Amino acid sequence: MNIGIYPGSFDPITYGHLDIITRSAKLFDKLIVAVLSNPQKQPLFTVEERLEMIKESVKDIKNIEVDSFSGLLVDFARLKQAKVIVKGLRAVSDFEYELQMALMNNKLDGEIETIFIMTSSKYSYLSSSIVKEVSRFGGCIKGLVPPIVEKQLKQKFARVN
Ligand code: PNS
Repeated sequence: MNIGIYPGSFDPITYGHLDIITRSAKLFDKLIVAVLSNPQKQPLFTVEERLEMIKESVKDIKNIEVDSFSGLLVDFARLKQAKVIVKGLRAVSDFEYELQMALMNNKLDGEIETIFIMTSSKYSYLSSSIVKEVSRFGGCIKGLVPPIVEKQLKQKFARVN
Protein backbone atom coordinates (compact mmCIF):
# COMPACT_ATOMS: atom_id res chain seq x y z
CA MET A 1 0.00 0.00 0.00
CA ASN A 2 1.25 3.46 -0.96
CA ILE A 3 0.89 5.54 2.22
CA GLY A 4 1.58 9.26 2.59
CA ILE A 5 1.71 11.31 5.75
CA TYR A 6 0.78 14.98 6.06
CA PRO A 7 2.06 16.30 9.41
CA GLY A 8 1.39 19.59 11.12
CA SER A 9 0.18 21.42 14.18
CA PHE A 10 -3.25 22.12 12.64
CA ASP A 11 -4.07 24.66 15.37
CA PRO A 12 -6.60 24.84 13.75
CA ILE A 13 -6.98 23.27 10.29
CA THR A 14 -7.61 25.85 7.53
CA TYR A 15 -8.80 25.64 3.93
CA GLY A 16 -5.10 25.93 2.98
CA HIS A 17 -4.43 22.61 4.76
CA LEU A 18 -7.57 21.10 3.24
CA ASP A 19 -6.41 22.11 -0.23
CA ILE A 20 -3.18 20.14 0.30
CA ILE A 21 -5.06 17.19 1.86
CA THR A 22 -7.61 16.95 -0.97
CA ARG A 23 -4.97 17.12 -3.68
CA SER A 24 -2.41 14.82 -2.05
CA ALA A 25 -5.02 12.19 -1.08
CA LYS A 26 -5.29 11.48 -4.81
CA LEU A 27 -1.61 10.50 -4.93
CA PHE A 28 -1.78 7.77 -2.27
CA ASP A 29 -3.82 4.69 -1.34
CA LYS A 30 -3.97 6.20 2.13
CA LEU A 31 -3.06 9.65 3.46
CA ILE A 32 -2.49 10.01 7.19
CA VAL A 33 -3.10 13.49 8.56
CA ALA A 34 -0.80 13.56 11.59
CA VAL A 35 -1.30 16.12 14.34
CA LEU A 36 1.78 16.94 16.39
CA SER A 37 1.23 16.75 20.12
CA ASN A 38 3.90 19.02 21.51
CA PRO A 39 3.53 20.11 25.14
CA GLN A 40 6.31 22.69 24.62
CA LYS A 41 4.11 24.66 22.24
CA GLN A 42 1.06 26.34 23.69
CA PRO A 43 -1.69 25.55 21.21
CA LEU A 44 -5.11 27.18 21.31
CA PHE A 45 -6.82 23.83 20.78
CA THR A 46 -6.13 20.53 22.51
CA VAL A 47 -5.01 17.61 20.36
CA GLU A 48 -8.48 16.06 20.78
CA GLU A 49 -10.18 19.25 19.59
CA ARG A 50 -7.83 19.48 16.60
CA LEU A 51 -8.41 15.81 15.69
CA GLU A 52 -12.18 16.29 15.90
CA MET A 53 -12.13 19.37 13.64
CA ILE A 54 -9.92 17.60 11.07
CA LYS A 55 -12.06 14.43 11.09
CA GLU A 56 -15.21 16.47 10.48
CA SER A 57 -13.50 18.47 7.70
CA VAL A 58 -12.22 15.41 5.79
CA LYS A 59 -15.21 13.13 6.35
CA ASP A 60 -16.05 13.03 2.63
CA ILE A 61 -12.57 11.91 1.56
CA LYS A 62 -12.46 8.14 1.83
CA ASN A 63 -8.74 7.35 2.05
CA ILE A 64 -7.82 9.62 4.96
CA GLU A 65 -6.78 8.55 8.42
CA VAL A 66 -6.42 11.18 11.15
CA ASP A 67 -4.07 10.54 14.05
CA SER A 68 -1.77 12.32 16.48
CA PHE A 69 1.89 11.76 17.28
CA SER A 70 4.62 12.96 19.57
CA GLY A 71 8.36 12.66 19.13
CA LEU A 72 10.02 12.34 15.75
CA LEU A 73 7.92 12.42 12.61
CA VAL A 74 10.07 9.79 10.88
CA ASP A 75 9.47 7.35 13.76
CA PHE A 76 5.72 7.84 13.43
CA ALA A 77 5.93 7.53 9.63
CA ARG A 78 7.86 4.24 10.00
CA LEU A 79 5.30 2.96 12.52
CA LYS A 80 2.52 3.75 10.05
CA GLN A 81 4.53 2.35 7.09
CA ALA A 82 4.35 5.69 5.30
CA LYS A 83 7.16 6.26 2.84
CA VAL A 84 6.31 9.81 1.81
CA ILE A 85 5.94 13.00 3.87
CA VAL A 86 3.74 15.61 2.22
CA LYS A 87 4.28 19.30 2.96
CA GLY A 88 2.56 22.36 1.56
CA LEU A 89 4.52 25.36 0.33
CA ARG A 90 2.77 28.72 0.32
CA ALA A 91 5.56 31.11 -0.54
CA VAL A 92 9.34 31.34 -0.80
CA SER A 93 9.36 32.28 2.89
CA ASP A 94 8.25 28.73 3.77
CA PHE A 95 11.09 27.22 1.79
CA GLU A 96 14.07 27.64 4.08
CA TYR A 97 12.47 26.00 7.12
CA GLU A 98 10.86 23.28 5.03
CA LEU A 99 14.19 22.51 3.35
CA GLN A 100 15.84 22.22 6.77
CA MET A 101 13.16 19.81 8.01
CA ALA A 102 13.20 17.74 4.81
CA LEU A 103 16.99 17.39 4.94
CA MET A 104 16.92 16.48 8.63
CA ASN A 105 14.18 13.91 8.10
CA ASN A 106 16.18 12.49 5.21
CA LYS A 107 19.24 12.26 7.44
CA LEU A 108 17.18 10.49 10.12
CA ASP A 109 15.63 8.06 7.63
CA GLY A 110 16.82 8.01 4.03
CA GLU A 111 13.96 5.66 3.04
CA ILE A 112 11.35 8.34 3.68
CA GLU A 113 10.98 10.99 0.99
CA THR A 114 9.47 14.48 1.41
CA ILE A 115 7.37 15.92 -1.40
CA PHE A 116 6.07 19.48 -1.65
CA ILE A 117 2.75 20.64 -3.01
CA MET A 118 2.24 24.29 -3.80
CA THR A 119 -0.74 25.67 -1.92
CA SER A 120 -3.40 27.10 -4.22
CA SER A 121 -2.81 30.85 -4.71
CA LYS A 122 -6.29 31.37 -3.24
CA TYR A 123 -4.91 30.31 0.14
CA SER A 124 -1.26 31.33 -0.13
CA TYR A 125 -1.63 34.07 2.51
CA LEU A 126 -3.45 31.83 4.95
CA SER A 127 -2.05 30.37 8.15
CA SER A 128 -3.52 29.03 11.38
CA SER A 129 -1.88 31.92 13.25
CA ILE A 130 -3.38 34.65 11.08
CA VAL A 131 -6.82 33.04 11.26
CA LYS A 132 -6.58 32.91 15.07
CA GLU A 133 -5.53 36.54 15.23
CA VAL A 134 -8.40 37.73 13.04
CA SER A 135 -10.90 35.59 14.94
CA ARG A 136 -9.58 36.70 18.36
CA PHE A 137 -10.48 40.29 17.50
CA GLY A 138 -13.85 39.46 15.98
CA GLY A 139 -12.90 39.62 12.27
CA CYS A 140 -14.68 37.51 9.66
CA ILE A 141 -12.99 34.20 8.85
CA LYS A 142 -15.72 32.79 6.62
CA GLY A 143 -14.26 30.98 3.61
CA LEU A 144 -10.88 30.60 5.32
CA VAL A 145 -11.65 27.66 7.58
CA PRO A 146 -14.26 24.87 7.58
CA PRO A 147 -17.56 25.73 9.35
CA ILE A 148 -16.74 23.54 12.39
CA VAL A 149 -13.50 25.48 12.91
CA GLU A 150 -15.30 28.80 12.57
CA LYS A 151 -17.72 27.68 15.27
CA GLN A 152 -15.01 26.37 17.59
CA LEU A 153 -12.92 29.55 17.22
CA LYS A 154 -15.92 31.70 18.06
CA GLN A 155 -16.62 29.58 21.16
CA LYS A 156 -12.98 29.60 22.24
CA PHE A 157 -12.60 33.37 21.98
CA ALA A 158 -16.01 34.06 23.51
CA ARG A 159 -14.68 32.20 26.56
CA VAL A 160 -11.28 33.91 26.50
CA ASN A 161 -12.52 37.48 26.00
O1 PNS B 1 2.26 22.90 11.15
P1 PNS B 1 3.69 23.01 11.57
O2 PNS B 1 3.78 23.50 13.01
O3 PNS B 1 4.53 23.81 10.64
O4 PNS B 1 4.27 21.50 11.55
C1 PNS B 1 5.60 21.23 11.93
C2 PNS B 1 5.82 19.72 12.04
C3 PNS B 1 4.81 19.08 12.97
C4 PNS B 1 5.70 19.09 10.68
C5 PNS B 1 7.28 19.54 12.59
O5 PNS B 1 7.45 20.33 13.71
C6 PNS B 1 7.59 18.09 12.95
O6 PNS B 1 7.67 17.23 12.11
N1 PNS B 1 7.76 17.85 14.26
C7 PNS B 1 8.05 16.54 14.79
C8 PNS B 1 9.45 16.51 15.42
C9 PNS B 1 10.50 16.09 14.40
O7 PNS B 1 10.40 15.07 13.76
N2 PNS B 1 11.56 16.92 14.27
C10 PNS B 1 12.69 16.64 13.41
C11 PNS B 1 12.45 17.02 11.97
S1 PNS B 1 12.74 18.70 11.73
